[in-house]
Amino acid sequence: MMNVRRFLGPSHFIFNTNVRYSHKTCRIMGIETSCDDTGCAIVDSHRNIVSEFLHSQQETHINFGGIIPPIARNLHKEHIERVVTETLKQSHFTLQDVDAIAVTIKPGLSLSLLVGMNYAKHLCRISSKPLIPIHHMEAHALTARLTDENLQMPFLVLLISGGHCLLAVVKNVDTFLLLGQSVDDAPGEALDKAARRLQLKNFKEFRHCSGGQAIERAATKGDAKAIDLGTFMTGYKDCNFSFSGLKNTIRTQILKFEKKHDIKGDEIIPEVYDLCASIQYSITKHICTRVQRAMEFIDRTNMIPKNNRTLVISGGVASNMFIRKYLNALCDDMAYNLSVPPPALCTDNGVMIAWNGIEKFSKHLDIFSHDNLDKIDILPKAPLGKDISQEVSDMNIRCPSGFFNKLYNSNK
Ligand code: KG4
Ligand code: ZN
Repeated sequence: MMNVRRFLGPSHFIFNTNVRYSHKTCRIMGIETSCDDTGCAIVDSHRNIVSEFLHSQQETHINFGGIIPPIARNLHKEHIERVVTETLKQSHFTLQDVDAIAVTIKPGLSLSLLVGMNYAKHLCRISSKPLIPIHHMEAHALTARLTDENLQMPFLVLLISGGHCLLAVVKNVDTFLLLGQSVDDAPGEALDKAARRLQLKNFKEFRHCSGGQAIERAATKGDAKAIDLGTFMTGYKDCNFSFSGLKNTIRTQILKFEKKHDIKGDEIIPEVYDLCASIQYSITKHICTRVQRAMEFIDRTNMIPKNNRTLVISGGVASNMFIRKYLNALCDDMAYNLSVPPPALCTDNGVMIAWNGIEKFSKHLDIFSHDNLDKIDILPKAPLGKDISQEVSDMNIRCPSGFFNKLYNSNK
């Protein structure tokens, strides 16, 4: 929460040439309420985060053991006005000083999305400013262009969060090619469930952490190879992901240890640290294997020019330093740059929505006048771009066996 934040040195980010905004700084307000964070930010076209404010509901949902949609909605309703007012106050601007209001309308929890969209529409109507509807996952994918001035499209993006697991090529601000996605759960969901089942919130040091954070911290005290949690989807030569098998294996392992030690009630299994490290290892291995295949696919199709290949990772799970380390090693192996927004921009926030608004505004995409807002509605389920996962599968790309073990052993 600060006034003007510039990620990079002086930027000369001049947008689209032929338009009336070409030499004017544009400034967009972004509002995010798709899940459990009420976020607002003002970002300008010189990559300045003018102001931002975030109210997180994490604490409440940790106590309930998961997100309960009506509770999330009520908390968004309770906080949205304050979050927006605070963002404006910090910016020293008024609504009249922003060019448009961008808001997440898809995908997400319908009750949560509605609060943000309705409030954004209200702001547009009272200020006569246009509205820019935003796809939450597209915004995650493009955030790296705010923080990495040199990031050119097309690039490969991996979005790993509590609700999503997607691998896509970003060709343009509005053109995404989906290479693969989770066929069941997201990695954050598996981590959150494992953390709950392991009762990590009973540890004082993890009490205020999300499940993923708690497992990352606990894993530093354990051995990643101590417990073999198996491999997943090895028979599928595609870039899809699966975490439900892992979830079941974790549950079985916990039951086995509880039985072995005659654990009752709130007691914690002695193997907790090793299990956390092994869970993190298993998730990292699965992710790296699928990303490696995507890189092979890109090589064969030449979908991204060879001399300028970047993997962007974002989403809450991308703040995990272990996962980053091995994706970084993979990138070194495959001649990719790795670009990761800072942790605060990997999780949900208003900044990414405002930045996506800037990208769209500069290209005149999806701008709706304040008197034409009835057409805009929320969409709780919304795919990311065009699904080309079958093309990947049809290529039947084999990853060299034991490649992740080698990567792990040489980068311990
Ligand atoms: O992107 P995000 O804030 O919200 C959505 O799911 O859209 O991601 C939240 C998820 C949660 O599942 C949380 O446990 C996970 O990201 N997460 C992490 C870490 N920090 C947050 N997972 C692994 N390691 C972390 N350090
Ligand atoms: Zn998200």
